[in-house]
Amino acid sequence: MDSFVIHGGAPLRGEVTISGSKNAVLPILAATLLTGDTCTIRRVPDLSDVAFMLRILESLGAEVRREGDAITVRAARIQGFGDYELIRKMRGSICILGPLLGRRREASVSLPGGCIIGTRPIDLHLKGLAALGTRIQVENGYVHARARRLAGTTIFLGGRAGPTVLGTANILMAAVLAEGVTVIESAACEPEVADLAHFLVAMGARISGIGSPTVTVTGVRELHGADHEVIPDRIEACTFLCAAAATKGDVTLQGTRPEHFGAVLDKLREAGVTVERAGTGLRVTRRGKVRPADVTTQPYSGFPTDVQAQFMALMTLAPGISVITERIFESRFMHVAELMRLGADIAIEGPNAIVKGGRPLSGAPVMASDLRASAALVIAGLAAKGTTQVHRIYHLDRGYERMEDKLRRLGARIERVAGE
Ligand code: UD1
Repeated sequence: MDSFVIHGGAPLRGEVTISGSKNAVLPILAATLLTGDTCTIRRVPDLSDVAFMLRILESLGAEVRREGDAITVRAARIQGFGDYELIRKMRGSICILGPLLGRRREASVSLPGGCIIGTRPIDLHLKGLAALGTRIQVENGYVHARARRLAGTTIFLGGRAGPTVLGTANILMAAVLAEGVTVIESAACEPEVADLAHFLVAMGARISGIGSPTVTVTGVRELHGADHEVIPDRIEACTFLCAAAATKGDVTLQGTRPEHFGAVLDKLREAGVTVERAGTGLRVTRRGKVRPADVTTQPYSGFPTDVQAQFMALMTLAPGISVITERIFESRFMHVAELMRLGADIAIEGPNAIVKGGRPLSGAPVMASDLRASAALVIAGLAAKGTTQVHRIYHLDRGYERMEDKLRRLGARIERVAGE
């Protein structure tokens, strides 16, 4: 398994271009199953999760072609239920359930296993699909879903921790080909869900209330091919913002949509980091010390759970106390023990991580546990004195396109070391 070796202390300087959004492109690729026509998706990041999704589409009989960052998919006929092994390995693959049901009224996927950031239930997905008229059986780790017809209805999709992102995506993708009108209440408002809805509209779907908590879908008989450019990855953008701030750098991000991460910009400014428009880019600089800031993760447009770990890495450098509260996923603090190996002082009390920042970080070998935790360790390693080795970076490859190349171009001393 590959690892990163980071010689910390170099401030990041220069320009970096943000890739297309991982969390937007996965359901959008799944949505190409809703038509037999050719769909072209642009600005597709080169990630292992995307490669998995493309293999799943191929295993369902779709023709997939890649040219640069554009991917064309043609699912003229859908065969079988896809490769279970692949489906089992990637949680995002749950979003083929909605389109398969929409297109041919039948789907079978393996239940997503437990994951390091807590149990990842899909009860809300199943509740929504059942409300549309699907019969669902959960057996031996699989979900079998079948519907004679899908009929629109009103579905309340809010859960214990708020709306569900992929759950909303699944219901949307089933509802576009259902009969009649479906109203999704307490829908997720994340830009990635809105991007999927815009792609569906380009395919001929009728959807209103896009990006709001109440989305109305009027079913149509069939969809056609479409050409769509994926939105920029707001989580990657926020990761580079935190990395630049942590290293006292001066970095300009190109190709971002800052309106998608206002909550993070607000907290960075509170922490004494300067973020300003610079031509077409977004420039982040830090001159003085980082100041502590409290953060609570929330559904969009609140502070994203996917930036919690990276922001915590930054807060370890801020003299004083910052309280970071995780409200979306239980046990999403796997990075805490590893940050402590680098010298951070953090105590966990229920959903709160109390960070006593300001102690200098020093390099150490650390273990990546999930995608965003890995990013936090890279940020801390870049800011630490000495050498940090981040093991198991296959987690990072799931969601960051050529992270080490992008960082190296900004002046970071980072290398990928191949492991067995
Ligand atoms: C998506 C993102 C992930 C992000 C998360 C929250 C993708 C591929 N992944 O994951 O990066 O961290 O949104 O912004 O887009 N829940 C239920 N029942 C369900 C579904 C979810 O109780 O049926 C709970 C979850 O346990 C969690 C909360 O709802 O507490 C939000 O999860 P959800 O929005 O569904 O996350 P994902 O869509 O899986």
